[in-house]
Amino acid sequence: MPSPIIKVRDIAFPRYQAPDLDEMETFLHTFGMVTSERTEDALYMRGTGSNHHVHVTHRGPAAFLGFGFFASSTDLEVLAQAMGTTVEKSTEPGGGDVVHLTDPDGRTIDVFANMDQVAPLPLRAHAPLNVGADRPRVDVLQRVAPGPSQVRRFGHSAIKTTSLATLAGWYANTLGLITSDDMYFESPESPMGRFMRCDVGDSPADHHSLLVLETGEVRLGHCAWEVEDFDDLMGGREPLFASGARHYWGVGRHILGGQVFDYWKDPLGFTIEHFTDTDLLTADVAPAASSVFDGINQWGPNPPDDLDF
Ligand SMILES: [Fe+2]
Repeated sequence: MPSPIIKVRDIAFPRYQAPDLDEMETFLHTFGMVTSERTEDALYMRGTGSNHHVHVTHRGPAAFLGFGFFASSTDLEVLAQAMGTTVEKSTEPGGGDVVHLTDPDGRTIDVFANMDQVAPLPLRAHAPLNVGADRPRVDVLQRVAPGPSQVRRFGHSAIKTTSLATLAGWYANTLGLITSDDMYFESPESPMGRFMRCDVGDSPADHHSLLVLETGEVRLGHCAWEVEDFDDLMGGREPLFASGARHYWGVGRHILGGQVFDYWKDPLGFTIEHFTDTDLLTADVAPAASSVFDGINQWGPNPPDDLDF
């Protein structure tokens, strides 16, 4: 396989468009994000981690626009030259250097370096768990403070396309994403889905930053943010239910990726996910393949019939 143009370090954030930024901001607070910056026409939400933002919404008709990724300064120069464009100074909150691209389906792909970092936020922590033979909590009462989930970072997205080979090939060749798992109906030679992760060598990467699904249409499947832990995921359901947010699917544990998941609908009707305890892989783990009929979950409910995720 030819070397990719660059290897991105991580996926950074998804970019949406919504007519009502107030409604989106209120919802995202309940979902567990914190306002990082708000401009006249856009909303930048952060998590508890050091990334300046993990969710962006521009004012406009409801739409999903694309993604930001992080790469090194050197890779930005390489990418710009290879793609026939230039490295620009970002004019958005968080600043940094950026290369603007478009994927084969028309999503806006912005690759950033040197974006501002923010100080991590203090966490509502809880006492350690007494699990199995490991029972470290003695004379300490377990009290999980109520409140929205604590979103740490953006984790991954599932995107639907008309050509898995074209789209997955572009992310592999351009941004250096590598295959964690393929999914197929009949034969591993004809995959219909590909879980792709960042190649960060010996460092651990989330099992997938992107899941590319060939479904006959170009659209968003879902976006997913990592929360602090299992209690944080479960406790964060209460404010969402109380707000009238629409729950979609969960709680369960996926097979591919291994995460504990819980899916909701945002005010635009897009599917969004809280997850925790993802599988982490280094770059030398070989690609695997499995049948879609092997199932999606280790435990938890089946997906809704409309499969809108
Ligand atoms: Fe997911």
